Amino acid sequence: MEGLKAGLPPSLETSLGGLRFPTPVGNASGVLGWHPEEARTVEEQGGGFFIAKSVTYNPRKGYPQPHMAPTRSGGLVNAVGLANPGFRRAAEILRETARRAGIPVIASIAGGPPGEWVEMASALEEAGVAAIELNLSCPHFKGGGLELGQDPSAVKTVVYAVSSTLSIPVFAKLGFSDRVVDASLVALEAGAKGLTLINSVRALKIDIYTKKPILGNIYGGLSGPPIHPLAVRTVYDVYRETGADIFAAGGVEDWEDAIELMLAGAKAVQIGSSIVVRGPQVLRNVVEGIRRYLWVEGIDSVAHIVGLAHKA
Ligand SMILES: Cc1cc2nc3c(=O)[nH]c(=O)nc-3n(C[C@H](O)[C@H](O)[C@H](O)COP(=O)(O)O)c2cc1C
Repeated sequence: MEGLKAGLPPSLETSLGGLRFPTPVGNASGVLGWHPEEARTVEEQGGGFFIAKSVTYNPRKGYPQPHMAPTRSGGLVNAVGLANPGFRRAAEILRETARRAGIPVIASIAGGPPGEWVEMASALEEAGVAAIELNLSCPHFKGGGLELGQDPSAVKTVVYAVSSTLSIPVFAKLGFSDRVVDASLVALEAGAKGLTLINSVRALKIDIYTKKPILGNIYGGLSGPPIHPLAVRTVYDVYRETGADIFAAGGVEDWEDAIELMLAGAKAVQIGSSIVVRGPQVLRNVVEGIRRYLWVEGIDSVAHIVGLAHKA
């Protein structure tokens, strides 16, 4: 590892799947939308990339309210139901977002049959996004969610269909499961340039006074601090077995959480729930915390901490 050179600040630049990001921190899909102002907010807060909310082939209204409930453990359970205007409208908005943003803009798609994934990804590539994240792991999307990401042959079909058609990088977003290492290996073999680990974890909240499930959809996805150690474990296991380029997501509230995920093997970190709960300035706190950590540790580049927890 290179030590700090006298007078030079540590570098926060990272590269993942062939894309370069000025800092290793950005938003996770779903907590912001598609618009230029949202990407600008991430950029102004020191974020190194913007990930748009997942889109589907046809517009979706989402599930009945309520969509979100806080947990006593500091997390969120959400079932928004992938509300979105459909990929055609999203591509129009993202064309402008990608044109105006100073950081890479990544589109996220979720879907049904492989042909739809390919059509959506091609339209978004044509609109000028830098990469496509395949949401193979939504915990409450019937037919195209978690079941898909846990089935290695389905992962292979979708990832191969999309990545063999596009020239921009494709990232496979997988959820927490005992088969995540297998699914990761298959996604990489099928052409994914990197992985996003993890999505929210299927969960349920019950109101003890009405004695009924709280969310309109009954089931939702648990996110935020309660899932952070699950994300660390998943990134650690997958990095050890694959050495892949990994975006980590899961319970990042502060810079220590981000560093932990990078030591486990992540090259960049996505923040979801903490942006919802605390606002986008959490991005700046994490970026500046990482910078201070590198100074204090005498490390000249954030790239040099990736996977260090695996070194003997
Ligand atoms: C309100 C909300 C909406 C989300 N929507 C999406 C989505 O559209 N697509 C997706 O891939 N993940 C979605 N997620 C999952 C996040 O991108 C992320 O993987 C997960 O929440 C873990 O990160 P966190 O603990 O920082 O929130 C959503 C999460 C939340 C809280």
